[in-house]
Amino acid sequence: MNTNEPTELQNLLTDQLRDIYWAEQKLAKTLPKLAKKAQSPALKTAFTSHLAETKTHIQRLEQVFALLGLKPRAKKCDAMQGLVEEGDGLAEEYAGSPALDAALICAAQKVEHYEIATYGTMRAFAKRLGLTEIVKLLSATLKEEGAADQKLTHIAESKANPEAQQ
Ligand SMILES: [Fe+2]
Ligand SMILES: [Fe+2]
Repeated sequence: MNTNEPTELQNLLTDQLRDIYWAEQKLAKTLPKLAKKAQSPALKTAFTSHLAETKTHIQRLEQVFALLGLKPRAKKCDAMQGLVEEGDGLAEEYAGSPALDAALICAAQKVEHYEIATYGTMRAFAKRLGLTEIVKLLSATLKEEGAADQKLTHIAESKANPEAQQ
């Protein structure tokens, strides 16, 4: 075996990197639409501030590509495409309803959990491969995804869910 050939674990890391690179770019286009649809100012702000973070996530992924000696390349993420489509459907169904914000949060939290799963898995791969700098970059994003998810839980429980019950 040629020792310069990437291992299958390295290939898997690159594959997931391309997947999440596509997913983050899709989110950068989707979050402004969610902010526009959101009814409460708190939820609008949550989506807008996560858009700023998402742009940073894209930059960090580009740093990861560079550290791996690769050009940034996106591979269509069918899962994220599906989550966004389902979210659009939910938003349409609940347009004008007092449950609209709860529905938007529901869709957004599915997205956050997808990201958390992908970044957590990629970080484990990078740890295993001894890629310390990459572990740091992925950890920084993972922390922000977790905080975004918690912020949405807070808005849901304190405001959106009680409103949806009216
Ligand atoms: Fe992200
Ligand atoms: Fe996110």
